[in-house]
Amino acid sequence: MTEPRVPQSRPQGWRSWVQESALYRSIIRSPAHDSPRGRAQRAFGNVFLHVYPVRVPRALLRFRSTWRLGFISTVLFTILLITGVYLMFFYTPAVSMAYGDMQLLRSQVGFGQLIRNVHRWGAHLMVLAVVFHLVRVFIDGAYKAPRQFNWVIGVGLLVVTLAYSFTGYLLPWDQLAYWAVTVGSDLVQYAPGVGGWMRNFLLGGSTIGQSALLRFYVIHVAVLTGAFFLLMAVHLWRLRKDGLAVGDVAPLAHDVTERADDHEAITVAAETWLPDGRRVLGVVETDEGPGHARAPEDEVFAWPHLIIRHQVVALAACALVLALGVAFEAPLRELANPNVTPEPSKAPWYFVGLQELLAHFDPLVAGVLAPGVLIAALVALPYIDRNPSRRPQDRKVALIVFWSLFIALAVLTVIGALFRGPGWGFVLPWEHLYFEP
Ligand code: HEM
Repeated sequence: MTEPRVPQSRPQGWRSWVQESALYRSIIRSPAHDSPRGRAQRAFGNVFLHVYPVRVPRALLRFRSTWRLGFISTVLFTILLITGVYLMFFYTPAVSMAYGDMQLLRSQVGFGQLIRNVHRWGAHLMVLAVVFHLVRVFIDGAYKAPRQFNWVIGVGLLVVTLAYSFTGYLLPWDQLAYWAVTVGSDLVQYAPGVGGWMRNFLLGGSTIGQSALLRFYVIHVAVLTGAFFLLMAVHLWRLRKDGLAVGDVAPLAHDVTERADDHEAITVAAETWLPDGRRVLGVVETDEGPGHARAPEDEVFAWPHLIIRHQVVALAACALVLALGVAFEAPLRELANPNVTPEPSKAPWYFVGLQELLAHFDPLVAGVLAPGVLIAALVALPYIDRNPSRRPQDRKVALIVFWSLFIALAVLTVIGALFRGPGWGFVLPWEHLYFEP
């Protein structure tokens, strides 16, 4: 199926006057034609849209191709950035002020509580979205060549996302924040040799006080944001270079050309579009065989097909976080008090699985070896699993190992979050729930 040719209608009246003015043409260089060339220009003539390739695999239009989870993570991050900046206007990272600022947000600041709610639920959802995105990428075998390095960058993004949530947790300076971070940072000190030093570095001392609050704040708003943008730039750039592992197709011809730099090259047909919408074929050098070149009928223009779908998903994600923010208030317990330990004191939910493990194993095993080995195994995965096939029936061992670990972690998390009460004793959540997100 080829792209439908849409009859051209030139803008009339004031629209034509605006679009032909020198000011407009200096910002938007080419008029918006609904022709193949116009659609291509929409993508590469716009600083935001040029992240997209001009044409994408048709299979990518199906929601289930990626479940849009990477995109949803990006949308959630944008929501967190905007709401986070708003919160920064009213928040002081000082032990004497932080809790009071939280109360002022509720009563004195326009939309303060709503923005705080959206920021908090958005953060929880982002952890979930990123984890499910990782699972989707694993199931599709999309970490295999040539995408190994992008998987490693992804693991970096996962660590940054968890670190964002964890450092943000302390900022309200209430009992929930103080004790969750106490449990979390206590885990660090079990690292052999460097544990005590790492904990001191993170907290700026041996206890959680003013230095810890300031360090968590700076890491939360500045260090992680810098790291996130850097990793994200590489993640998206590599996506363009490697293409998406969707529909079992190769990357676009012009991207393939760049990948061929260091390899023995052969030539395959590549296409380009003329101003009148005709397509011409040329040759490019590539390390892929011609059999990998995608047929034009397997591709569609990113604008409007994919971009419109992304806009709908972005609106749905915004609506969901807003609805959660309206319906559920972010918790704020009493002012942090180092002398009163709440029972039970739990780590944030995404670390509570480790806390549960701690109840059964030595702290060195549960607090350091288990998470360390898990992250190292994730990083090494694409280099260990050399099986080139992405079909599930050829990857039984990898899938069984992955699902076993994932289910074990999920079960530990559910037990720790819902089935544990005072003294880490077993409780039934429908009798008494000791869990606050
Ligand atoms: C903040 C976190 C992340 C963001 C914002 C993000 C964003 C994206 C986006 C927008 C895509 C395009 C496909 C889609 O929409 O799903 C993508 C693909 C990809 N991501 Fe991520 N990602 C993140 C974390 C991760 C993680 C944790 C991993 C794995 C460890 C990962 C590995 C990959 C790989 C290998 C691809 C290519 C998938 C394919 O070819 O089908 N990403 N990512």
